[in-house]
Amino acid sequence: MGYAFGSIPFGLILTRLAGMGDVRSIGSGNIGATNVLRTGNKWLAAATLLLDGLKGFLPVYLAWQFFWDDLGWVALFAILGHCFPVWLKFKGGKGVATNAGVCFGLAWPIGLTYAAVWILMLVIFRVSSLAGMTAVVAAAGASLYFGPTVAPMTLAIIAALIIWLHRENIGRLIKGTEPKVGSKS
Ligand code: G3P
Repeated sequence: MGYAFGSIPFGLILTRLAGMGDVRSIGSGNIGATNVLRTGNKWLAAATLLLDGLKGFLPVYLAWQFFWDDLGWVALFAILGHCFPVWLKFKGGKGVATNAGVCFGLAWPIGLTYAAVWILMLVIFRVSSLAGMTAVVAAAGASLYFGPTVAPMTLAIIAALIIWLHRENIGRLIKGTEPKVGSKS
């Protein structure tokens, strides 16, 4: 269930429906909201952010309600679905928005920590990848105090995966060439 939700490539679907072609052929080539923003359409980017978050939140929330034993696996597989969707030959996004939904699904204080750190870092540095990676690590830390016992291990594994998927962004951050939010490159 986690994988089925997570693997829906909303960024690609929305940009195609809007007649903007394939979002993978612009900017970083990613299917996430940051790259959708590089099309110049803020509403599409916001919708991508919301839907990518929702597809992380919903399966975890449903797992809480019905199969709580499998919570960690559902959360992990929602992220794996987004990052490695079978529909796109396993080449998907980097998991930051979907993990925000996962965090809210696990416990609202973890989700709030995630959102607060993400927004704060975005406001200060205006670099999406840096804000996302910081939020991912902060949420894993917050899960030591809030949420179900499975949360710290699950979010630590997810954080490691998301940081690995940002390895090219990290290279650009070190070189000082990572684009700011809203720039077209
Ligand atoms: O959520 C993805 C973001 O952290 C980086 O996106 O397109 O700049 O590689 P992008």
